[in-house]
Amino acid sequence: MINKSMQDAMNDQINKELYSSYLYLSMAAYLEDKNLSGFAHWMRVQEAEEREHAMKLYDFIVERGGRVMLKAIDAPKTEWKSTLELAEEVAAHEALVTASIYALYELALKEKDYPAQIMLQWFITEQVEEEKNAAEIVSNLKLIEDRGTAVLMLDHRLAKRGGK
Ligand code: FEO
Repeated sequence: MINKSMQDAMNDQINKELYSSYLYLSMAAYLEDKNLSGFAHWMRVQEAEEREHAMKLYDFIVERGGRVMLKAIDAPKTEWKSTLELAEEVAAHEALVTASIYALYELALKEKDYPAQIMLQWFITEQVEEEKNAAEIVSNLKLIEDRGTAVLMLDHRLAKRGGK
């Protein structure tokens, strides 16, 4: 059975994953409004993945005989100065999520919760991918700056991104 401190920390992480989903959905809406449907598609794929992350933690708590306790999700921002600023915020946000997963893993080590350690290794690997994808889009956007044709080409490429 999952212990109380691990359960509380995982419930907090569920909230962070659901906030990530809400933030990315807000970003998708902003991009849709700018007619950047490829970038919006990228954020919608991310948004769905964040809900999967929340549900992975949810299922783990249930399987271990714990209690899922949902909390209020903060309102995300709705405006960005540019697509680059938005992509930089995705990268910064993913770095925060990684730090939070590492803290959860450290707690699992301290509590000698071996099943949690194994489950969290999936998240550690996933975060490497998430950070890499965001960093790649930031660096592409920096390279092309505000050249419209290049932005549209990147938008077209992102429209083809599938989920993992
Ligand atoms: Fe659930 Fe993008 O980390």
